[in-house]
Amino acid sequence: MTLAHGRPYLAIPGPSVMPDRVLNAMHQAAPNIYEGDLVEMVHGLVPDLKAVARTAGDVAIYICNGHGAWEAAASNTLRPGEKVLVLSTGRFAEGWGVVFDRLGAKTEVIDFGKRAAVDLARVEAVLAADSAHEFKAVITVHVDTSTSVKNDIAGIRTVIDKLGHPALFMVDCIASLAVDRFEMDAWGVDVMVAASQKGLMTPPGLGFVFFNDKAAARQPETASFYWDWAPRAKPQLFYQFFGGTAPTHHLFGLREALDMIAEEGGIEAVWARHETLARAVWAAFEVWGQGGPLELNISDPARRSCAVTALRIGGDDGTRLRRWVEDKAGVTLGIGLGMAEPGDPSWHGFFRLGHMGHLNAHMVMGALGAIEAGLVALDIPHGDGALAAAAKVVAEA
Ligand SMILES: Cc1ncc(COP(=O)(O)O)c(C=O)c1O
Repeated sequence: MTLAHGRPYLAIPGPSVMPDRVLNAMHQAAPNIYEGDLVEMVHGLVPDLKAVARTAGDVAIYICNGHGAWEAAASNTLRPGEKVLVLSTGRFAEGWGVVFDRLGAKTEVIDFGKRAAVDLARVEAVLAADSAHEFKAVITVHVDTSTSVKNDIAGIRTVIDKLGHPALFMVDCIASLAVDRFEMDAWGVDVMVAASQKGLMTPPGLGFVFFNDKAAARQPETASFYWDWAPRAKPQLFYQFFGGTAPTHHLFGLREALDMIAEEGGIEAVWARHETLARAVWAAFEVWGQGGPLELNISDPARRSCAVTALRIGGDDGTRLRRWVEDKAGVTLGIGLGMAEPGDPSWHGFFRLGHMGHLNAHMVMGALGAIEAGLVALDIPHGDGALAAAAKVVAEA
């Protein structure tokens, strides 16, 4: 028997659940892209996006996914042959580094492993040794979606400043924007990349690059025509916002999503909701882990992301549990990413729970309830009282 009939719940770490309001806003006839409401609407989007990113800098909007935003950021900052320092805490900073490599950078990777945040002392040692200031950029992720680690972005900036190192500081917030607290200007981030499909609750297809004056001043002549962020950030003509035809319906969706953020009370309220719901998730997994093999990948709560939780369970129980929860309860969990190579049997011992975007307490409690049912059905040992622990966090909020 399956109990999966009903509204399915996609609890992977992006794309996240799309609100009906966003989908309905997209369900309309094609607008004029030369004048009228759409043109007005886009001018209003820009300040709202910047408010979510906590920056007074510029934003360039691209019709692309996160990989496109990565390439846009690299194309606007890198001169071929320059050195770039990659601070890797999982699959994604490393992936961004590869984009820089392909554009001609000489990347050097500091690998902090799959279970830890960026170690500031190691960054300091590497940058201090670079007395010739050969590194032109330091790139990292705020949240690595594969490991679910959250890096100390303000701390990395403090290290860079302490050494007086002039490298640009570039941060991927694709998983964390509008989920985990992020203060672009206050934390001294020069370039930040994001995308529409996670905290911003809009279908995949919009990439964003936020940048400050320091980054703008470093733009190389080699920035490609299409990725050039300058006309997108300060367009003379409407089409320049997007380097061509506007992504009309994504923009309608994004407008609605930004309205929803404002109606909730603004970005601080959105961060607070995610933080509480994430604590409920962690409370449940910690209790389950006390009586069995389940383990949160990141042990330090201060370094866990509020967007996604990566779990270790061992054997093939990650895959068994995902299958059971989807087939029997209608909840789709995320695969483990970057923990083992596909094809390696240990790949099946990991999974992730996404908890970003359009998410409330009943969705979190429902997903956790389905996981508990799966643990029981599959005879996977686990501690008792996990749902009560999660409910307590919700009740006390
Ligand atoms: C932190 C992070 N960076 C980059 C990406 C790549 O984004 P995309 O798959 O939209 O190209 C992802 C995707 O999950 C991500 O989580």
